[in-house]
This record gives sequence, structure tokens and C-alpha cells, in this order.
Amino acid sequence: MATVSRQKSILLKQFNETRARTLSLVQTLEKDDFVVQTAPFMSPPKWHLGHVSWLLEVVMSKIANNYQFYSQEFSEYLNSYYHQFGEPHDKDKRGLATRPTVDQVFEYFHMMTNKVTDILQNDLLDEKTQQLFFMAINHECQHQELLVYDLQNLLADKYRPVTKNLIPTPSEQESQAITINGGLYKMGYSGDQFCYDIELPEHNVYLNDYKIDTYPITNKQYIKFVEDGGYDDFKYWLSDGWDKVQSEKWKAPMYWEKIDSEWMTCDFLGKRKINLNEPVCHVSYYEADAYCKWAGKRLPTEAEWEKAACWDEKNQLKTIFPWGDQSPEAGHANLLESYIWNCAEIDAYPNGKSHYGCHQMIGDVWEWTSSEFSGYPGFKTGFSEYNDKWFANQKVLRGGSFATPSISIRGSYRNFFRLDERWLFSGFRCAEYV
Ligand SMILES: [Fe+2]
Repeated sequence: MATVSRQKSILLKQFNETRARTLSLVQTLEKDDFVVQTAPFMSPPKWHLGHVSWLLEVVMSKIANNYQFYSQEFSEYLNSYYHQFGEPHDKDKRGLATRPTVDQVFEYFHMMTNKVTDILQNDLLDEKTQQLFFMAINHECQHQELLVYDLQNLLADKYRPVTKNLIPTPSEQESQAITINGGLYKMGYSGDQFCYDIELPEHNVYLNDYKIDTYPITNKQYIKFVEDGGYDDFKYWLSDGWDKVQSEKWKAPMYWEKIDSEWMTCDFLGKRKINLNEPVCHVSYYEADAYCKWAGKRLPTEAEWEKAACWDEKNQLKTIFPWGDQSPEAGHANLLESYIWNCAEIDAYPNGKSHYGCHQMIGDVWEWTSSEFSGYPGFKTGFSEYNDKWFANQKVLRGGSFATPSISIRGSYRNFFRLDERWLFSGFRCAEYV
């Protein structure tokens, strides 16, 4: 019983903090900003606010008999891809809808916050219901990160964060690659808090001995690939990737532009020279894979990545995070609540390194792995149409970015994107066979 009420108080605290964080991300926006969709892959801030609230209704419909949704019009606009709730609104036309209005969406947001708070405070919640609300909180965390991607596309340095902290300075760099002994490794989530269905069940995988980079690939390293004609030579590219390079005229990572022989980017810090010591960001799987081929290396599998991040060889145990089981704090990793709004330079988080000595595996940039996104052996779906309907044509990324809320990341977390997507904060590190 003590455990049930403890879980319930964690649930209420996480819910309140998450709803408040969503509001703080949009606190300084002008009303005009809420409606605009600047690219087909992004969504207007208004839509994110409404959608995370609608998902709370979806959860309530799973636990209450004959649950009546607030509004048919809202459900049609705010449904992302759940065919069980009707035909979703076209994703690339979310910015064309002037109804529901921004004010109506805010009213809806607050109404749902109050409704769910009442439930979490007053009702006796069984374990399944608690898990559904934990999922809804984690879903909202995912949308906070998507919202940050979208704010970069919409506003970049015109966005005024409520909180902005200084970027930590790096310490001395250590060696560049670490050798990890292979053998059986039990991958997957091993803790007793919320995790997604796709992180389970824990299962054994066999790994050969391998080497993995101590740091994510930096802009300095990546520019060498660019300047060496990496984007001009088909031999580094997967066939689909090369098609993409040709059709989209890719010459460098997304948001990069060469001005007077200087590579520039455009992000929350403004239009600025590429910082050579930051991890490379906004690269697709194709680009990460091509770089590895050029460098004579390869991407790690997700099992290799996870072992390098979480396995404590000395004590023969797996931890939830690279630094242990303790939840992330400011000195461990650059996550959303660091409010740096940018990647930190490599070596800025020595206290967050893994037992093997790999740095910045959590935070800064999501890291592409070579693994296909599919269910682990024995996978059981936790929620219909949420994760497992994407088990095709996507690759797994690990570790979170500077826009990932800290309660929603762990060493076993599996993100997934299509191979050509690069609007997320995505980078990589290389591996090699020994
Ligand atoms: Fe969603």
C-alpha cells in the first residue's frame, strides 16, 4: 500500500511539473507564433498544447466506461495518428486551421490539467491506470522536445526562453576510443519506475569485442568529411541516402550554410559560426552512416551503445544512467532543464561519464545506432498505436538531447526516426570491431 501511495504522489508531482513546463516553453510566444507551421515536419505550438491535452482524454477513455470526449472538432484536429479515434487531421496542414482558436486551446489545456489533477488527487488508482497516466506524462515530455525542434524552425534566436543558463566549459579531453569486451549482455530496462513497452523485456544479446568513441563526433571532425567531398561521392552513401543527397541537394547538416568560406548555422544562439567543439547536430542516419564509412568505422548497434553507457564492468551490474542509478542532475548531462538551449562542447560533463569512460551519452544530441527499430524478443504492446505500429523503416537513437526533459530519459530509452530525418537534435559516435 505504501508503494501504491508513493507511486501516486510521484505521479501527481510529475504531472504538475510537466504541465507547468509545457506552459513555460510557450510563455513568451506572441499569439501569432502559436498558429504558424513553417515546415511539413513541424507542428504549430497551438497544436502541441492541444494534442498533449487530448492524449489525456485518450487515457481517460481507456479507464472510464463511455467516456465522452470534450469536442468532436477538437478530437479531429488534435488526433495525430490514432485511427481508433477517427481519421486524423493532415499533419502538414495543421498550420492552416484557425479553429480551435489559441484561446480555446488554452482553455482546454487548463480544463484537462484540472480534471486530471482531481483524478490523481482523489481517486484510488490501480496500477494499470497509474501506468497509463505515467505514459501520458512521458508523452507530453516527448512533445516538449518536439516543440523545441519546432521553435528552432519557427523562431531560432527570436525565441526568448523563460530560463537561460550559461553553457558549462569543457575540461581536458580524454582518449578517443574505448575497447569493450564482448560476451553476453542483458539489454533493456531493469528499474522499477515507468518505462515504455519497447524497452522491455530485458534479454540477452551476444556482442563481439568492440571499440566505441569516448565522445560524440564533433563539428570539427564532421567538417573534415564535408570538406573532403563527402557529400559529392556516392561511394560513402547507402543508395537511398545518395538519392536523398541528390534530390534535396544536401551539402552539409541541416541548418548549415557556407558564407564566405565559413560554415554557419542558425539556432537558438542566432546565426553563428559553427563551434568546432560541439557535437555535430542535425544529421540524418544516412549522413551518420556515410561519415562512418568515410572514416573507416561504423555506427554502434543499440546493444553496444547501451552496454558502453550503462554496464559497470567492475561491479558486474547495469545502472539506469551512465553515472549510476541517480536521476539526472545539472552536473550530469545537458538536458532540457539545463536550459542551455544548445549542445555543450564535448567534455563539458565529466561527472556524467559512463563506467567505461564514455562522455555525454545522455543529453546534448540523440545518437544514431545501426539498429532497426523493432520489438525486443517477447515484446508485448503497452498501448495500441503508440510505439509498435512504427516497427518498420526506422532506426533507433539513444541518449536524449539538450531538449529532452530529464524525467523522460534513461539508458534503456529507445527513440526512433526515419533514416532521412534531421530536424531533431541528432548526432552520433563511431564504433569499430576490435
Ligand atoms: Fe503525440
